Amino acid sequence: MAEKKNKGQKTFFRFMALIGVVTVGTIVYGFLTAAPALRPIPAHLGPLSTSTCLKCHVESPSGAPIMPHRPMTDCTFCHKGPELPTPQTGY
Ligand code: HEC
Ligand code: HEC
Repeated sequence: MAEKKNKGQKTFFRFMALIGVVTVGTIVYGFLTAAPALRPIPAHLGPLSTSTCLKCHVESPSGAPIMPHRPMTDCTFCHKGPELPTPQTGY
């Protein structure tokens, strides 16, 4: 263990640690808020399973934007909705 000899050095390392924590926090927050929330259209209300989401957003996207990423297990983990009671998994 390197010994921190003076106060200035301790302050420097605390400052660097703070920058690290803020950076990681910003990245995690950005990741979790990047997904657009579900709009309160009738199609989005009620309990929806992942396979139901995919029916509109991959198979027959008439007006619905095509999912721009690989299908993931739990859509509502990232896409928060106005009224989506229990997110169901499996498709
Ligand atoms: C019955 C068809 C249907 C189902 C089921 C459906 N959607 Fe949608 N979705 C739409 C349509 C239509 C739009 C476009 C609405 C608009 O532009 O106003 C849309 C828009 C979206 C958007 C874009 C929102 C935005 O503001 O850009 C996301 C994200 C989304 N849906 C995710 C989901 C997820 C996740 C599920 C499952 C929980 C789901 N959808 C189920 C039809 C559907
Ligand atoms: C790990 C988080 C995450 C999960 C899980 C996830 N998405 Fe997304 N989704 C995103 C992000 C982030 C974007 C925005 C991508 C972009 O703008 O390039 C997005 C964009 C979308 C869009 C396009 C919205 C638009 O306005 O064009 C649709 C549709 C969509 N997702 C549907 C789904 C469906 C259906 C599922 C479940 C199978 C799902 N997503 C699961 C993070 C996620």
